[in-house]
Amino acid sequence: MAGKEHASQLAQLLENNREWSERIQQERPGFLEKLAAQQSPEYLWIGCADSRVPADQIVGLLPGELFVHRNVANVVIHTDMNCMSVLQYAVEVLKVKHIIVCGHYGCGGVRAAMHEDELGLIDNWLCHIRDVYFRHREGLDAIRDARTREDRLCELNVIAQVHNVCYTSIVQNAWARKQPLTVNGWIYGLHDGLLKDLRVSIDSAEAISRVYRVQMQGPGISQGS
Ligand code: CO
Repeated sequence: MAGKEHASQLAQLLENNREWSERIQQERPGFLEKLAAQQSPEYLWIGCADSRVPADQIVGLLPGELFVHRNVANVVIHTDMNCMSVLQYAVEVLKVKHIIVCGHYGCGGVRAAMHEDELGLIDNWLCHIRDVYFRHREGLDAIRDARTREDRLCELNVIAQVHNVCYTSIVQNAWARKQPLTVNGWIYGLHDGLLKDLRVSIDSAEAISRVYRVQMQGPGISQGS
């Protein structure tokens, strides 16, 4: 691509931004000033980085209403400092009431995790989805249509990540404090723009397996090694 054309693409984005800023200030005077002072979103969105799944837009929310974390294939890993920091801040400081893990059908990350082609560093990230595939391989391999099989893994991945959110000490501490917090699993259809609730919502530690429960203790915690 020619250098000039290359640069003008970015200039267009900045022009779009100026128009957006003008429009929002005309339609909602004072809105941005108010937001600049404070955000108080009620929702944390954990979604795929895919450009076709713009979080705020598909749920019709305005700036300030949705706290967002996105990565390839909406994976929640307990040693991922980025995701854990977002989760901790959202739950403990912003006190969001709902966490939405949102996957999407036709997810390239999920598809890649079902195939053997090497893609590079990302293969290590996608290994977490291969774990989900491995756990459900009998059911998945019984699905003959490749597309349907991939879509089912997209759903199973969302469900697995909902559980991963619930297994964090962050979420379990919130429940122990009686902070209202629901963890939900949704999936988005690229073809029709519609969200589907996978009905796997969890709002208490009792709903997760005992193995993953973290017993919260006070300051007198035992000093055993
Ligand atoms: Co995706």
